[in-house]
Amino acid sequence: MDMLLPLKFTESLPVQDGFQRSLRELRLSVIDRCNFRCTYCMPADSLQGRGVFLPLEKLLTDHEMEDLVRAFVDLGVRKLRITGGEPLVRPGLPALIEQLAAIPGLDDIALTTNGVMLTRLAGDLAEAGLSRLTVSLDTLNQEILHHMSGGKARLGHILEGISAAEAAGFRRIKINTVVQRGVNDHTIMDLLAHFRGSGHPVRLIEFMDVGNSNHWNKSDVVPNAEWIETIRQKWPIRPLEPSSAAETAQRFEYVDGQGEIGFISSITQPFCGGCTRARVTADGIFYTCLFSNSGTNLMPLIRHGEDPDELRNRIHSVWSARNDRYSEERGLPGHDQKKVEMYRLGG
Ligand code: GTP
Ligand code: 5AD
Ligand code: SF4
Ligand code: SF4
Repeated sequence: MDMLLPLKFTESLPVQDGFQRSLRELRLSVIDRCNFRCTYCMPADSLQGRGVFLPLEKLLTDHEMEDLVRAFVDLGVRKLRITGGEPLVRPGLPALIEQLAAIPGLDDIALTTNGVMLTRLAGDLAEAGLSRLTVSLDTLNQEILHHMSGGKARLGHILEGISAAEAAGFRRIKINTVVQRGVNDHTIMDLLAHFRGSGHPVRLIEFMDVGNSNHWNKSDVVPNAEWIETIRQKWPIRPLEPSSAAETAQRFEYVDGQGEIGFISSITQPFCGGCTRARVTADGIFYTCLFSNSGTNLMPLIRHGEDPDELRNRIHSVWSARNDRYSEERGLPGHDQKKVEMYRLGG
């Protein structure tokens, strides 16, 4: 089939997978390193010594990332999310963002960060053309935050980072909160109270079985349906219309006008049906699902490829053959494969 593809992509061509899902969003990890060691993502005890992270020369260069993103845009991608590890750890990130923001056809560039380096970088990122920012923050309790971040996070630094982002002009900063039963669930209402009225939506994320090392257990998941009931008793909320079929979060608003809240329920209410997200690691491996156990190495086509059509054709054929729906099949026999680590894929 590949051989019959039109080889010149002169206009944007949305490519569809085996379930008629178009390729619309690219989540690009720019580095696999992080200054935190979150227990649910990169637990320190799972990192066996040196060599677990990519050597810097193995990362795609800024130029290569631009070529890669252009190829995805040619195939229909309109949204780009920059992830890590911690993306702000990549040297010279604002310059890369500036390059990517100039790509015609890309409508939106967002970035997910743990927030601590925003005090230094928020202004440069805004100037570079970054459209939107998400900050991960699991609790306002310093002791629990310390534990969940593997001893690395200081609450004050993250809150200062959010303030710096506000001062740089970012509005509606999404706050991502992973909830683990018995770990931070008793601190969630305080977190919600803090951000009510701030204009920044908090999104409660069900703890997921990403990677192979976070000791995931279903009993540690708080179903988001429980939160909807608990929150309602304190602050009435009502559902909002989804803004797109590809949305990960079910959105609600506080009836008293104090803002929005999101629920990302990959465990109890999977959203694979609308999944238009591709993921590429910092060394150019293309994955079609957050829970994939193998990907397609695009690096040779990017670093040594002569013809951009070859790269586009490879992406096109991988996406066309895609049939992932891991969250809907979770727990079924034969679905306990080894998975790529979250900090390589960036969530
Ligand atoms: P925007 O719509 O661009 O703002 O992004 P988003 O709402 O999808 O938010 P974000 O990228 O911050 O995703 C939030 C979290 O949802 C991620 O950190 C993941 O934990 C989870 N998530 C995102 N995409 C997927 C997905 O395709 N599958 C699953 N299972 N979880 C996802
Ligand atoms: N379950 C749910 N969300 C996770 N994230 C990382 N690991 C997990 C997990 N096991 C989220 C973080 C961050 C983003 C990079 O991914 O909260 O917002
Ligand atoms: Fe780092 Fe984010 Fe993973 Fe935490 S969740 S270890 S901040 S990449
Ligand atoms: Fe998409 Fe895979 Fe997540 Fe389903 S589990 S929504 S297919 S990334």
